[in-house]
Amino acid sequence: MSAAPAQASPVLDVTVQRKRFAGAAGGGSPGAARTVLEDLRFNVQPGEVVSLVGASGCGKSTLLRLVAGLDADYDGRVRLLGRPVRGPAAEAGFVFQEPRLFPWLSVAGNVAFGASGAAARPDVRARGPAGVEPSRARALELLDQVGLAHLADAWPKQLSGGQAQRVALARACFGHPRLLLLDEPFSALDAFTRIKLQDLLLQLCRRNGASALLVTHDLDEAVRLSDRILVLRADPGRLVAEIVVGLPHPRDEDDAAVVQIRRRVRQALRRAQEDTAGAPAASVRVVRAP
Ligand SMILES: Nc1ncnc2c1ncn2[C@@H]1O[C@H](COP(=O)(O)OP(=O)(O)OP(=O)(O)O)[C@@H](O)[C@H]1O
Ligand SMILES: [Mg+2]
Repeated sequence: MSAAPAQASPVLDVTVQRKRFAGAAGGGSPGAARTVLEDLRFNVQPGEVVSLVGASGCGKSTLLRLVAGLDADYDGRVRLLGRPVRGPAAEAGFVFQEPRLFPWLSVAGNVAFGASGAAARPDVRARGPAGVEPSRARALELLDQVGLAHLADAWPKQLSGGQAQRVALARACFGHPRLLLLDEPFSALDAFTRIKLQDLLLQLCRRNGASALLVTHDLDEAVRLSDRILVLRADPGRLVAEIVVGLPHPRDEDDAAVVQIRRRVRQALRRAQEDTAGAPAASVRVVRAP
C-alpha cells in the first residue's frame, strides 16, 4: 500500500510478502507452518506517527519484530532510511508493553544502556559526535525531557509504572533514533498516566526528530496520536484500511472530527473482522479526514 502522498524519502518502507511460523498456535495441524502475515506494504514518512490496529493475534507484534530486525525469517524487505534492515538498527528504538528495566542499573544507567552495545558498533561510531558523546550527559538530557532528571540515580524498583515507562521511552531515544517502534507501550497504565505519556511521546518525537510506528488496541490513543492509522485483518494478517487523520494537535476526544475518525476506525475494524470470517481480503481503503 502506498502511504500519504510521497514527500521526502520514507524513514521506513515495508514489504512483507509472507511471514510464516512453523507450528503456529491457533490453526492447522500440529507442526504445520502457518502464514500469519501476507502481502503487506506500507511506509512511514519523516516525522509521522503511524498506528497499527487490529484484532488480537492478527500479527501486529510479529510485524513490529520484523521491522525492528528481531526476526529475519520472512519473504519481503524492510528498509530503514533506505537501507535494508538486517538486525537491530541504531536508528530504531523499541518500547515494549512493560518497561523491561534492568534492576541492577540505576535509572540513568538504564537509559544509557544502549550505549554499551550500540556505541561500540561501527555504524554508530561512524555517525560521529552522537556515538561518542558522554553517555551520562545524554541520559540526563533525556531524563530531563521525560521529567525524571531528579530520579537519575534512583533504582528501577523505586519507580511507579508510569515513571518506569518514561524511562523506557528515554532509553529508546538514547541512540538518536529516527524511528520509534512501540508495542502497546501504555496499555498497562491508568487512563490519566496514559494520556500524559501519549503527550510525552509526541514531544519526544518532535524534539528528537523521530517518527513512530505504534501498535495499540486503544482507538482513542490511535486517533489522538496518529497521522495515519493502518487497520489489519487476521488469518493471515493483511492491511485492509488506511485512515488519514490530518487533524492538528492537541486533539480533543469530544471534537466532532475526532469522533468521526474514531467511528471510521471502528467501522474499518469491524469490516476487517468480517473479512477474516471467510470473505476474500478487501483491497486497502484509504479514508481521509474531512
Ligand atoms: N514465535 C512464534 N511461534 C509460533 N507462532 C507465533 C509466534 N509468535 C506469534 N505467533 C502466532 O502468530 C500470530 C500473530 O501473533 P502476534 O503476537 O503478532 O499477534 P498480535 O496482533 O500482536 O496480538 P496481540 O494484539 O494479542 O498482541 C498468532 O497467531 C500467534 O499465535
Ligand atoms: Mg502483540
